[in-house]
Amino acid sequence: MQLQHNKILITGGGSGIGYGLTQRFVQEGNTVIICGRRQDVLDEATKNTPGIITYCCDLGKEDERVKLIEWLSTQHADTNVLVNNAGIQQWMHPHDDDFYSRAKAEIAINVEAPLHLTQLFAKHLKKASAVLNVTSGLSFVQLNKVPVYCATKAFFHSLTISMRELLRPDGIEVIELVPPALNTDLGGRGLHDSAPPVSAFVDAVFQQLQQGKEQITFGFSEMMAKAGPDEIQATFKRMNNLTD
Ligand SMILES: NC(=O)c1ccc[n+]([C@@H]2O[C@H](COP(=O)([O-])OP(=O)(O)OC[C@H]3O[C@@H](n4cnc5c(N)ncnc54)[C@H](OP(=O)(O)O)[C@@H]3O)[C@@H](O)[C@H]2O)c1
Repeated sequence: MQLQHNKILITGGGSGIGYGLTQRFVQEGNTVIICGRRQDVLDEATKNTPGIITYCCDLGKEDERVKLIEWLSTQHADTNVLVNNAGIQQWMHPHDDDFYSRAKAEIAINVEAPLHLTQLFAKHLKKASAVLNVTSGLSFVQLNKVPVYCATKAFFHSLTISMRELLRPDGIEVIELVPPALNTDLGGRGLHDSAPPVSAFVDAVFQQLQQGKEQITFGFSEMMAKAGPDEIQATFKRMNNLTD
């Protein structure tokens, strides 16, 4: 994709990886629109990065996704890039009383939202030229304490591969960004504090976008994307403290 002069919608663009991408795309000469549920997070992002456009919504809800794309196609019809970044990660166990309700919420934002937004974006934004999907290194190997999260990311990784070919004839590039664990508030404050900074990943993203890569990996996610079954199995056991 071209890296300048785009108008880009970044879901969850007010914090973490989404905000790192927002800052960098603005620096590179793009117009960025961000959305999320927390107005204060969107306001803080605008204060720190003037010029970004914000829209407050809950993308786990179907009607709010429809309204967002309606607003975009009337107010910002020149939007040409969608970054499906918003997501949640929940530690959970099938013994938990709220296991199913939490699983449904996780599936709604991690799976239904990007699937639905991509369809609406490709249909209603006439200038659509790229969709960037933020999956995870956990698309390839499971961390059992976040079981539904891993399953949603495996789904999203798989969907991305098919969407890439289905939308290619329309001139829409579908690019997968595969972060490893990074220092954000994902899953709750403090859980990712020992992970590398978002800025290192964003640098890698821009370097690989310049090289025209369709799947962008970094560190652990690069290893897992290339790994064979034995290495995946060994990593699965190590990550989940399982012995032979
Ligand atoms: N950090 C990591 O280690 C890591 C590794 C691999 C992949 N990822 C992926 O990277 C993406 C960004 O995560 P992050 O690490 O940057 O965590 P984060 O800072 O918690 O960012 C998640 C963003 O998604 C938004 N969001 C969540 N639910 C939403 C909803 N229902 N409607 C609208 N927006 C919603 C949040 O805003 P509101 O809360 O204000 O709605 C927030 O801005 C996620 O898809 C995550 O799975 C992260």
